[in-house]
Amino acid sequence: MAFRGAGWGWSPRCAAAGPTQLSPNPRLPPGLKNLELAAVGGSDVHVKMLAAPINPSDINMIQGNYGLLPQLPAVGGNEGVGQVVAVGSSVTGVKPGDWVIPANPGLGTWRTEAVFGEEELITVPSDIPLQCAATLGVNPCTAYRMLVDFERLQPGDSVIQNASNSGVGQAVIQIAAALGLRTINVLRDRPDLQKLTDRLKNLGADHIVTEEGLRKPEMKSFFKDVPQPRLALNCVGGKSSTELLRHLAPGGTMVTYGGMAKQPVIASASQLIFKDLKLRGFWLSQWKKDHSPDQFKELILTLCDLIRRGQLTAPACSEVPLQDYLRALEASTQPFVSSKQILTM
Ligand SMILES: NC(=O)c1ccc[n+]([C@@H]2O[C@H](COP(=O)([O-])OP(=O)(O)OC[C@H]3O[C@@H](n4cnc5c(N)ncnc54)[C@H](OP(=O)(O)O)[C@@H]3O)[C@@H](O)[C@H]2O)c1
Repeated sequence: MAFRGAGWGWSPRCAAAGPTQLSPNPRLPPGLKNLELAAVGGSDVHVKMLAAPINPSDINMIQGNYGLLPQLPAVGGNEGVGQVVAVGSSVTGVKPGDWVIPANPGLGTWRTEAVFGEEELITVPSDIPLQCAATLGVNPCTAYRMLVDFERLQPGDSVIQNASNSGVGQAVIQIAAALGLRTINVLRDRPDLQKLTDRLKNLGADHIVTEEGLRKPEMKSFFKDVPQPRLALNCVGGKSSTELLRHLAPGGTMVTYGGMAKQPVIASASQLIFKDLKLRGFWLSQWKKDHSPDQFKELILTLCDLIRRGQLTAPACSEVPLQDYLRALEASTQPFVSSKQILTM
């Protein structure tokens, strides 16, 4: 079968998006290439991609700044959902029509179709919204694990997080609400702050504070009414993370999972000595290495249950056809966008 899978290959470290580079199609934008689709072997699955987001980690991977880099040439995109078209004779876990997501990063989801090994895929129920399925495998999983794995929190306890409008942040708000936890959500100030505040409150956010507000003395009285959080989730680093630490309860934990400000996490000696705060990190890829595929599938099913109950929705999204990926890439690197770019195929 020839010339059916269009994929996005990155440059300058990657010239072609697949094993066989064919002559460039003048109608495709730069970076998109037609690749020959591999034959479906016994343990292979032919997948038609449906939708795939552009996440910061995809960009980091392209820049070569990520903890895991694929062999080049490679196709971009670590997350997304596809539909099974055909399966090889020894495939037992998926069947044509099923929806599948990547089992691990590095699959290359920014393409129209591909042939993958069965072990590279996880089935997801197709009764959840497409945008939920396309954004399920990374951010909600990260949010869930961070909320339950670091501190033993009880309903009524509070959690503080920065970059609360991020994909992970929106999942934290919703999953925390489902667990009965209160969220203190820090945002960068912006012209449409009220609109964003309303949207996050609709998702279940209890409190919204700007980065500037968090530094004000008024926060002392805020914590007279709201329990001091024992868990802080840090997506940003730099001053923002120092402020999260300032408001953590003694003995509490700050989990760093992102470094959007590209600034180091700075904790004062007194925070560590007198408050015994714990600084931890979380990386979903490591969690998956430390756990079995069945445990990952169980996590996915737990999140699907929340989706079905209306307790977890997809992040705010803008769908962009794969052909216009340059526009989507540009938008995904702008500040204050508050909308995840999702490539549709
Ligand atoms: N460790 C893990 O396992 C894991 C898993 C998933 C995600 N992540 C990481 O989590 C982070 C968020 O991912 P996502 O997909 O949720 O992102 P996203 O939906 O694209 O949102 C990006 C967020 O970063 C904020 N931001 C961007 N530049 C910033 C800066 N210079 N200073 C402060 N905030 C900034 C944005 O805020 P504005 O609206 O104010 O611009 C927005 O809240 C990324 O670093 C990603 O790699 C880690």
